[in-house]
Amino acid sequence: MTSAAASSDLLDLVRDIAVRAGEYALEARRNGVSVAATKSTPTDIVTAVDRDTEELIRSLILDARPDDGIVGEEGAAHIGTSGLDWIVDPIDGTVNFLYGLPAWAVSVAVAEGGGADAAGGPGAIDGTTLAGVVSNPVTGELFEANLGGGARAGARTLGVNRGVPLHQALVATGFGYAADVRRQQAEVLLGVLPSIRDIRRNGSAALDLCALAAGRIDAFYEHGLNAWDHAAGGLIAREAGARVAGPHGGPENSELLVAAAPGLHEELVALLRSAGMQA
Ligand code: IPD
Ligand code: CA
Repeated sequence: MTSAAASSDLLDLVRDIAVRAGEYALEARRNGVSVAATKSTPTDIVTAVDRDTEELIRSLILDARPDDGIVGEEGAAHIGTSGLDWIVDPIDGTVNFLYGLPAWAVSVAVAEGGGADAAGGPGAIDGTTLAGVVSNPVTGELFEANLGGGARAGARTLGVNRGVPLHQALVATGFGYAADVRRQQAEVLLGVLPSIRDIRRNGSAALDLCALAAGRIDAFYEHGLNAWDHAAGGLIAREAGARVAGPHGGPENSELLVAAAPGLHEELVALLRSAGMQA
């Protein structure tokens, strides 16, 4: 299943499911949305649409590929036997979704030989991501990649900005939901901001990684992501030429994800370390 041709076949299904889920969530958003529950903290929210969209994705996957595994942000879990695992964020950017800001997306990826939260630690993708789609139903943009097949937005091939020096780099990041985590993130940011062009906080890690792939930002880093936040976007950024890595250059995980073109990536990691980043 690891050939580019096989991952391209899989991508057709991933795309179909992500688009249908995006249409569903957009229509549901028009009918109104409210907080259904809070999760890790009072600001870490879930709406009924997050849950219903994940359930739709789950049923579409199992209809098409009943032997695959599934892990989803809102609790979808299915142990598979095929060796393929789907990693699903029904709505990445839930706070934007709640407030009616346009930066939210459906993120769907398929990995072979592991799935989420395995050997690379919490938030890591163990195995190889074969195909990933990030759909922003508000803008109509559809970002996608398959392993070895490049990254695209519609008909446009994506490529990261190259040769950008650190002091000229537009860098996106995000913050966790827990106050103590945010305090540390803000302290690191204090050390980063004076040395770069500027910071962006868009509110969706999946879309940040796609923005990197599309050359709309030069780099992205975040501490505390889950596998479903970065599974599809990480493949899209890599296939667009980014280096995507985690602690000590190993796999990205919930400790750290840094993504940028080679060269800038190393400069940013060094800056993050000097700014007090622990990983
Ligand atoms: C969040 C978004 C946000 C990032 C957070 C994630 P959610 O996902 O990706 O940009 O900063 O770390 O948890 O909660 O909107 O699915
Ligand atoms: Ca998310």
